Amino acid sequence: MGGKKIRIGALISGGGTNLQAIIDACVQNKIDARIVFVGTDNPDAKGLARAEKANIPTFVTDYSSIIKEYGENPDAAILPEGFELADIMQKQFLISQDTEPEKLKAFFETRAIAERSLLDAMNQYPFDLLVLAGFMRNLTPYFIDEINDEPGRYRIMNIHPALLPAFPGTDGYGDTLRYGCRVGGCTVHFIDYGEDSGPIIGQKSFPISDTDTKESVIRKGLHLEWQLYPESIQKFAEGRLSVVEKNYDLGNSKSFSRKIVVCS
Ligand code: GRF
Repeated sequence: MGGKKIRIGALISGGGTNLQAIIDACVQNKIDARIVFVGTDNPDAKGLARAEKANIPTFVTDYSSIIKEYGENPDAAILPEGFELADIMQKQFLISQDTEPEKLKAFFETRAIAERSLLDAMNQYPFDLLVLAGFMRNLTPYFIDEINDEPGRYRIMNIHPALLPAFPGTDGYGDTLRYGCRVGGCTVHFIDYGEDSGPIIGQKSFPISDTDTKESVIRKGLHLEWQLYPESIQKFAEGRLSVVEKNYDLGNSKSFSRKIVVCS
């Protein structure tokens, strides 16, 4: 690949095999990108060692200790400047608005504190695209609006272990297998204000047979993830991805509209 290299920031929580696939694709010049930082919510994330080996700067925002400290005395919490709970709650569709108000408040306040810390660390490394590579925390509108600061320009990508919109959540491969699906897969999508609900960039699928186990499904899925993520990043790097509002005529004067990704 010979185009101008985009700068990628990555967030991880665990083993970082997707991170490794992206590092390798960058180093081998298979994509026009370089990784400028790797951040995590988990001080023990094994993927940090992969970043260090590749001489990529790393940082940790320890979500668990932020949540614990908040729980000990919520009234003492110092919330980031500009954080407005009502605005965030109205935008988000991560959590049902029927949830107990105290729980909603605690969720969004703890996440805002953690997200501010992530943003402060990230601000040291200017980037064009943020990739979530096994980052196991939901990001709230507080964080998303700081990154997507130009209307319509989506800059956060995620990889999900299922063929969305089926099986959002943390165990996509397990849910796919337990449902009895004959096909599993993975999805790369842009992040919006919901959980695994943003516009889809790409998907790959694999067959599931009677002899498959959760381990074999994960193995097949991960191999496809390692191809799909770099391919999706390259499309972004080439400036080919745009998100458009598409209207569908359902007949009987009914219509449906959704934001989708168009790849030129
Ligand atoms: C992957 O299956 C990814 O789809 C999901 O979390 C897993 C992360 O694996 N979001 P790794 O840390 O990249 O190995």
